[in-house]
Amino acid sequence: MTTTAGGAVHAEGGSRRDFLYVATGVAGAIGTALAVWPLIDQMNPAQDVLALASTEVDLSPIVEGQSITVVWRGKPVFIRHRTADEIATAQGDKVEELRDPQSDAERAPRAEWLVLVGVCTHLGCIPLGQKSTDPRGDWGGWFCPCHGSHYDVSGRIRKGPAPRNLEVPPYEYLDDTRIKIG
Ligand code: FES
Repeated sequence: MTTTAGGAVHAEGGSRRDFLYVATGVAGAIGTALAVWPLIDQMNPAQDVLALASTEVDLSPIVEGQSITVVWRGKPVFIRHRTADEIATAQGDKVEELRDPQSDAERAPRAEWLVLVGVCTHLGCIPLGQKSTDPRGDWGGWFCPCHGSHYDVSGRIRKGPAPRNLEVPPYEYLDDTRIKIG
């Protein structure tokens, strides 16, 4: 095979195109990284928030059937004032049939108050169920729409890919209406 000038030009042209393609790809990746970084940075809790090892919450304004979300160490914490029906349902479940067996009494020492880290144990999305208009899944608790994990009224995983129950954070009662999380 004879190498012609045309062939050489063709080969160089190919190399240049490859280079341009690679260079564009790298620039694009850097551009994306720069664009995403401020977003990630914003999502990281500020140092002063991280330093707050505990969060105190007054439960008295939360009426029965209502949930609120507070922030503890940069994570959402769900606090639900459960109804009598929800408590009866959660306490009536057969623990041994659960994917992550835990009794309701272990998770909610004072049955009317359920306190949970609001982070799905599958990939870390924040499940729906805090607003009265939210879907609450097949077991009436919380529903993570990312991949369809259903949690019951004790925050225990019942269906979908999540491997574990919603975590109960460490907390204690300071008196009848106040808790300290952390
Ligand atoms: S993150 Fe919740 S189901 Fe995937």
